[in-house]
Amino acid sequence: MANIYSSFLFAYCVIFALLISGQARDISNRDIYEKLYSKLYHPDNVTPTGANFTFVCDPKRFSSLGLDVTKFAFCDKSLSYDVRANDLVKQMTLSEKALQLGDSNQGVPRLGLPKYEWWSEALHGVSNQGPGTSFDALVPGATSFPTVITSASSFNESLWLAIGQAISTEARAMYNLGRAGLTFWSPNINVVRDPRWGRILETPGEDPFVIGKYAVNFVRGLQDVEGTENFKDLNSRPLKVSACCKHFAAYDVDNWKSVTRFIFDARVTEQDMVETFNRPFEMCVKEGDASSVMCSYNRVNGIPTCADPKLLNQTIRGDWDLHGYIVSDCDSVEVLVDQHKWLGDSNEDAVAHTLRAGKSCVKYLLIPDNCLDLDCGSYYPKYMESSVQQGKVREADIDRSLKYLYVVLMRLGYFDGIQQYTSLGKKDVCSDEHVELAREAAREGIVLLKNINDALPLDAGKVKSLAVIGPHANATLAMIGNYAGIPCQFNSPLEALSQYGEVNYQVGCAQIGCGNDSLIPPAMQAAQNADATIIFVGIDLSIEAEGLDRNDLLLPGFQTQLINQVSGAAKGPVTLVILSAGGVDISFAKNNPKIGAILWAGYPGEKGGPAIADIIFGKYNPGGRLPITWYEANYTNMLPMTSMPLRPVDSLGYPGRTYKFFKGSTVFPFGYGLSYTQFNYTLTSTVSSTDIKLNKLQHCYSIRYGNGSFVPPCPAVRIDDLDCKDEISFEIEVKNVGARDGSEVVLVYSMPPEGIVATHTKQVIAFQRVFVPAGGSKKVKFVLNVCSSLQVVDYNAYSVLPAGNHTISVGDDIVSFPVPVNFQFS
Ligand SMILES: *[C@@H]1O[C@H](CO)[C@@H](O)[C@H](O)[C@H]1NC(C)=O
Ligand SMILES: *[C@@H]1O[C@H](CO)[C@@H](O)[C@H](O)[C@H]1NC(C)=O
Ligand SMILES: *[C@@H]1O[C@H](CO)[C@@H](O)[C@H](O)[C@H]1NC(C)=O
Ligand SMILES: *[C@@H]1O[C@H](CO)[C@@H](O)[C@H](O)[C@H]1NC(C)=O
Ligand SMILES: *[C@@H]1O[C@H](CO)[C@@H](O)[C@H](O)[C@H]1NC(C)=O
Ligand SMILES: *[C@@H]1O[C@H](CO)[C@@H](O)[C@H](O)[C@H]1NC(C)=O
Ligand SMILES: *[C@@H]1O[C@H](CO)[C@@H](O)[C@H](O)[C@H]1NC(C)=O
Ligand SMILES: *[C@@H]1O[C@H](CO)[C@@H](O)[C@H](O)[C@H]1NC(C)=O
Ligand SMILES: *[C@@H]1O[C@H](CO)[C@@H](O)[C@H](O)[C@H]1NC(C)=O
Repeated sequence: MANIYSSFLFAYCVIFALLISGQARDISNRDIYEKLYSKLYHPDNVTPTGANFTFVCDPKRFSSLGLDVTKFAFCDKSLSYDVRANDLVKQMTLSEKALQLGDSNQGVPRLGLPKYEWWSEALHGVSNQGPGTSFDALVPGATSFPTVITSASSFNESLWLAIGQAISTEARAMYNLGRAGLTFWSPNINVVRDPRWGRILETPGEDPFVIGKYAVNFVRGLQDVEGTENFKDLNSRPLKVSACCKHFAAYDVDNWKSVTRFIFDARVTEQDMVETFNRPFEMCVKEGDASSVMCSYNRVNGIPTCADPKLLNQTIRGDWDLHGYIVSDCDSVEVLVDQHKWLGDSNEDAVAHTLRAGKSCVKYLLIPDNCLDLDCGSYYPKYMESSVQQGKVREADIDRSLKYLYVVLMRLGYFDGIQQYTSLGKKDVCSDEHVELAREAAREGIVLLKNINDALPLDAGKVKSLAVIGPHANATLAMIGNYAGIPCQFNSPLEALSQYGEVNYQVGCAQIGCGNDSLIPPAMQAAQNADATIIFVGIDLSIEAEGLDRNDLLLPGFQTQLINQVSGAAKGPVTLVILSAGGVDISFAKNNPKIGAILWAGYPGEKGGPAIADIIFGKYNPGGRLPITWYEANYTNMLPMTSMPLRPVDSLGYPGRTYKFFKGSTVFPFGYGLSYTQFNYTLTSTVSSTDIKLNKLQHCYSIRYGNGSFVPPCPAVRIDDLDCKDEISFEIEVKNVGARDGSEVVLVYSMPPEGIVATHTKQVIAFQRVFVPAGGSKKVKFVLNVCSSLQVVDYNAYSVLPAGNHTISVGDDIVSFPVPVNFQFS
């Protein structure tokens, strides 16, 4: 063994050094990628669960198998989940254990343990993307809410919670009907670092705090069983369904100029890791109490995330105290061997390196502990037994992972049932209430980007004929994006607008790609003759998708020409509606006076059409805000997608990323969004300063200030050193001074004291969406923790509270006030 260790040590150090220096970076291989991609996601792989019972420890089920349930301690409800899971695992042989470590669990018939498929998805509605879920005549569809980027634009925490609750009700009902599992690998909470990323539609945007809040609400909506939200013992807290925060970590390159996620090595500073990439995951696990985390395909600083003990053991299990299991992205372990070719691992090495993260590798660098519990794929079931036989894995490590898995299934009622959900069934899927919530979510998320001279809303009494133009005018599938299921129904914009008058529909472009202008003349003619013109353009999954990053930020093909020519010809007012997840450089339309109004509808889900029509005709007053920066098209020429730093890289001329660090001009900034009414803010109360007393164990910490800046005598204190009990509280009165009822998103930012080098310009620290009737007003109170709201992550990756004058800015400086922080020694 000593020899094996030392040769491993040598190989590891050589390869590690190469990886760190970046020289061992693989080049892409599109063929392999294509093969993998189609293998992973080809619909032929989808098989129904076949589940046909309500709970494992049903005595009748056991007796039908010729077994006596009372003989199995793991079915004894008087014992703790921990003891029961231990009992179950102890009874399995090594081969039986190995077969339970893939997403497609084989079960153990002699113990009465049935098969279980762990892979189900519910990103914005129960999806059939994973093999654990299926639709057929019994359950033909489920409610398809707007894609996440659109729901996120509502900035409404109760909406996010309500969507999670509706989805888990449908999921539990489908489980009862044998059409879904109980473990759903959603939400996707990776930060949108770059506007080219193909998976922006799946995420809540670019701000780590907003993403974290989305995650907490959505996960609680999926998981929490009413009445047990504050259960003391988190290892036995009941779960409605199990959610999963993914993809950990620093994952946001899919396939850019042939750099695929399967070979990408994200070079990330600890500062960016703590401040940006980890933050939503930390909130998802700590505040959301998510019962699972998924590691990603990419490497971070040389190490595949699924084999990184620092990320998985130390951070997720140690620092954040996950109560649940860690799963790989699908076939990650295989990707580690075949694509990353990490450490030249054999299959057995790879399962050892991911399960226990490297004891056999370098003892002093990688202390053994728990990493990856479940392989979405077949490597664990295939190679775990031989890995144990080759001395690479201890059976005890397998036992620990299996226990994490079975405790989650016990918390889900998989073994004992959960009384309050047994009556859920067909009637609870696609219920009127859920379908209405999908429409409400779309209305709340749609963002009004331009509205000169009150071009919108249209007056239904005056507008008798409509020209409805463009390749997205009759959008159906495009509205539900990816990770969708089969929706209950579709209502396209065309169908919804047809209820308001006589419609002349002209597609204008044969497809989204819009390869020629042959269909533009009839569209111009329609606009010439109609009282009002509405143009639907944008992009879709052929341009931004999983496995497909964008090359530019422009509208494809002849779409720009379509917009210009049709609006030039139009007789009546012109409204432009954009369907996309990522931002589009539509400066030309913003500046075109013939285009009175622009709406961004994201991908608004199965009820997107009626939601858009509600807004266009004023049945709903839009209040959504952009959760991402809309950069100008030339942004993509300034820096490669693969450059990970959020801060500008002056030596390479790279501008910063996201509103926190990018200082250039934009098409529309983060947080932008108009209303049909106007709001005024008044600061009605505030605390003015924070004096923090330090004892002799609390120390001042030095942070970098620019030349010539005033540096306070005690410049900062590390957050770890503070008890962080101080609060900032203030109240804003929001007045609706316009003529229409409306909802306003109150966004609160903090800005650090001037002079600190390389810190964010500002950061979101709170937000609330409030409804205010015309002429009315509402007081919005904020009570914020000083440490979490004013913290800065310095270049050593410490979270610190700087002394000096911080600024709280509400609604992009509509109201702002200083918060001086002083440290005093007692
Ligand atoms: C359900 O299980 C029973 C007994 O295990 C079996 O006879 C029946 O065919 C199953 N039904 C379905 C729909 O799979
Ligand atoms: C794994 O976590 C455990 C518990 O937090 C800790 O004792 C151990 O040192 C960690 N191992 C690594 C490699 O960080
Ligand atoms: C709109 O799309 C639906 C669904 O794809 C299709 O059935 C319908 O014919 C389309 N309408 C028009 C006018 O093309
Ligand atoms: C324009 O594009 C359509 C759809 O791709 C195609 O059918 C048609 O032949 C093209 N027309 C010309 C003139 O290229
Ligand atoms: C990017 O484009 C905008 C608008 O066309 C222009 O104002 C700006 O100067 C350009 N920036 C760079 C760095 O070229
Ligand atoms: C809104 O507030 C601004 C600045 O405080 C003030 O000038 C303006 O009169 C207010 N508008 C209304 C309608 O109250
Ligand atoms: C600060 O001054 C030093 C010495 O004059 C200089 O080397 C450094 O570049 C300056 N830093 C900044 C941020 O201006
Ligand atoms: C937030 O969402 C909830 C749930 O859909 C809804 O009832 C409420 O009206 C929304 N709040 C605002 C201000 O739009
Ligand atoms: C903070 O602002 C106050 C009032 O404007 C000023 O007197 C004080 O010097 C400032 N403190 C720092 C550290 O800049």
